[in-house]
Formats: sequence, structure tokens, C-alpha cells
Amino acid sequence: MSIIRLEQITGSDAGLKAALTDAHLPIDDIEDGGRTFFKALSAEGQIVGFSGLERCDGDYLLRSVVVHPDRRGSGLGKAMVEGTVASLAPGGAVFLATTSAAPFFARIGFSEVQRDSVPAAVLATRQLSSICPSSATIMKLIKPPT
Ligand SMILES: CC(C)(COP(=O)(O)OP(=O)(O)OC[C@H]1O[C@@H](n2cnc3c(N)ncnc32)[C@H](O)[C@@H]1OP(=O)(O)O)[C@@H](O)C(=O)NCCC(=O)NCCS
Repeated sequence: MSIIRLEQITGSDAGLKAALTDAHLPIDDIEDGGRTFFKALSAEGQIVGFSGLERCDGDYLLRSVVVHPDRRGSGLGKAMVEGTVASLAPGGAVFLATTSAAPFFARIGFSEVQRDSVPAAVLATRQLSSICPSSATIMKLIKPPT
């Protein structure tokens, strides 16, 4: 059983916005369509983090992954990403862009990919086309969580 429980929220959730702002992650587009966000609750019912998915034709962009600063380093981020990806129907590939957390995502089964191998719909997301710097590492989930 996972150490966290995910509950779907909207992009207008005040806690989501505050957590992303504190972590210097983009908020400009979180209320646009095609995005699904989750809050992660501990066994005690405390909100410990947030995550999101953005649909890109048949593929997905994993985004807005943040664990409360006081709760980092105890496996919550990994459980949250695995739960978020597990919510998807099989078929599409999962990509993400990160400037600072590539080693964390690599431990979960993501591998760096070159921009020219990334589907156009993923590159066209606001995260990749305008918000994230061009120096961001783009990663693709190669090994689905077991
Ligand atoms: C990145 C983040 C979500 C990780 O959450 P976390 O709860 O601390 O991560 P976990 O405890 O689940 O770590 C899982 C594994 O990744 C490793 N890890 C975590 N952060 C890491 C980092 N920055 N660099 C290298 N390894 C890291 C952990 O040591 C752990 O390894 P293990 O499985 O061998 O024990 C959290 O640090 C965070 O919210 N950062 C700010 C926001 C951010 O950068 N989000 C990602 C951008 S999209």
C-alpha cells in the first residue's frame, strides 16, 4: 500500500499555487484546460505535496511535482510520482522537464531525451515552449513503476 493517497484538485487550488510558488515552479498556466492536478495526503490526512499531468495528444507531461519542504527525503515524492503515473490509462508516453530534479526522476525510471526526439505536442506545452528555460532537462518514463 502506498504511503500517500492522491486526491484530484483543480488548478485554482490555493494550496497548489502556494506550494508551486514557494518551490519556484511555474503557475502561469495551471488554470488552463487539459491539466489534472493532485494533492498528496499522508496517512494522518496532512497535505504533503502536489503533482500534475498535462495531456499532449496521446502523451502526457508530468509537472508541478512538489513535496512540502519539511517532508522531503522520506520517499513521499517517489510515491507521489508513481501514484500520479499509475492514474494514467496505458498507452501514452510520459515526459517531464526539470531544471533541478533530474537525479530524483532518474531513480523513478525517467531517462533524459533530446528535444528532437520529443513529440511536437509535448514541445508545444507552455512548460516547454515558454515557461521552462531551454536549458531544462527533458525526460521520458522508460521504466514504468512496478
Ligand atoms: C524533487 C522532490 C519532489 C523530491 O521529493 P522527496 O520526497 O524529497 O523525494 P523522495 O524522498 O521520494 O526521494 C526518492 C529518491 O530520490 C532521491 N532524491 C530525491 N531528491 C533528489 C535530488 N534532488 N537529487 C538526487 N536524488 C534525489 C532520494 O534520495 C531517494 O532515493 P532512494 O530511493 O535511493 O532512497 C522534492 O525535493 C521537491 O519538492 N523539490 C522542489 C520542487 C521540484 O524541484 N520539483 C521537481 C520539478 S518538476
